Amino acid sequence: MEDRIISGEADASETTMEQSLRPQVLKQYIGQDKVKANLEVFIEAAKLRNETLDHVLLYGPPGLGKTTLAVIIANEMGVNIRTTSGPAIERPGDLAAILTALEPGDVLFIDEIHRLPRSIEEVLYPAMEDFCLDIVIGKGPSARSVRLDLPPFTLIGATTRAGSLSAPLRDRFGVLLRLEYYKEEQLRNIVIRTADLFEIEIEHLAATEIAKRSRGTPRISNRLLRRVRDFAQVKGNGMIDLARTNEALELLQVDRLGLDHIDHKLLKGIIEKFRGGPVGLDTIAATIGEERETIEDVYEPYLLQIGFLQRTPRGRIVTEAVYHHFGMEAPN
Ligand SMILES: Nc1ncnc2c1ncn2[C@@H]1O[C@H](COP(=O)(O)OP(=O)(O)OP(=O)(O)O)[C@@H](O)[C@H]1O
Ligand SMILES: [Mg+2]
Repeated sequence: MEDRIISGEADASETTMEQSLRPQVLKQYIGQDKVKANLEVFIEAAKLRNETLDHVLLYGPPGLGKTTLAVIIANEMGVNIRTTSGPAIERPGDLAAILTALEPGDVLFIDEIHRLPRSIEEVLYPAMEDFCLDIVIGKGPSARSVRLDLPPFTLIGATTRAGSLSAPLRDRFGVLLRLEYYKEEQLRNIVIRTADLFEIEIEHLAATEIAKRSRGTPRISNRLLRRVRDFAQVKGNGMIDLARTNEALELLQVDRLGLDHIDHKLLKGIIEKFRGGPVGLDTIAATIGEERETIEDVYEPYLLQIGFLQRTPRGRIVTEAVYHHFGMEAPN
């Protein structure tokens, strides 16, 4: 799979830069109003009762701000955050070491929690429910189980695939929050905020244009802004205006809706070879030379979201909007 500038996933060079862009408190976190309103109440209530916050599960597509929100929750609660990820915890001992090192009230953030091995999940259940650990000491007939008390803590899990989480694990979260794709106006505000932090001058219309092409995803907004800035610095005086923005994004092959050449290949493939569908996923996969899973997990979600593709029992269909987008005549 090739790198795409409009991918929601972070690339290796972005991770450190992103940390400096993260809003630190709920008030700075743009959009996701429902999620914020809920969190405000839960945080306030927990503080009033002097209790730890209930365990929180954050789910939604990559780059929408799950990690950011986890850090904000810890800040708002005034506690430390300890960060790890599903694949990083290989043995029950790894998890036990992390849990026993927590201070009362701390947040333990497990990213990609759907990738936690089942054997580890089982250690997590009593830790989440009763703040204790059952560990087996010794081997064979002399082995015995000891119960270890843990400080009360808040587990925050993040996942892009809530469906892959086991039901018993999901049920142990008191708060389930789904992040949604952002609206254009919210993304524009995120672009303006980031430009501010970078001390870049940007026209309002230019920020809107970047927002329109960001596929509802703050990570993409920030990435496009950086690329447009490079372009404006090399080709102009550094000021980002609409003309430069359009020029840069055209060069980067990100169209007015944030679609790139791969989206075009997929959509035009269905139009040209299958008269717009319905066509089965496996057939599409074979035609454009991609794995079925890649199409389902990476290529399709945004196209479904903007109503360019429809899933039907007989396969995928491109909608009339796609023909309009390409300036083609839609069939009857
Ligand atoms: N609501 C927001 N307001 C401002 N900036 C945001 C917001 N949400 C996300 N961002 C920015 O977008 C970038 C990506 O966010 P984050 O890393 O939290 O996403 P994520 O959901 O954890 O992604 P992944 O699924 O890859 O772990 C961060 O640099 C952050 O600054
Ligand atoms: Mg993350």
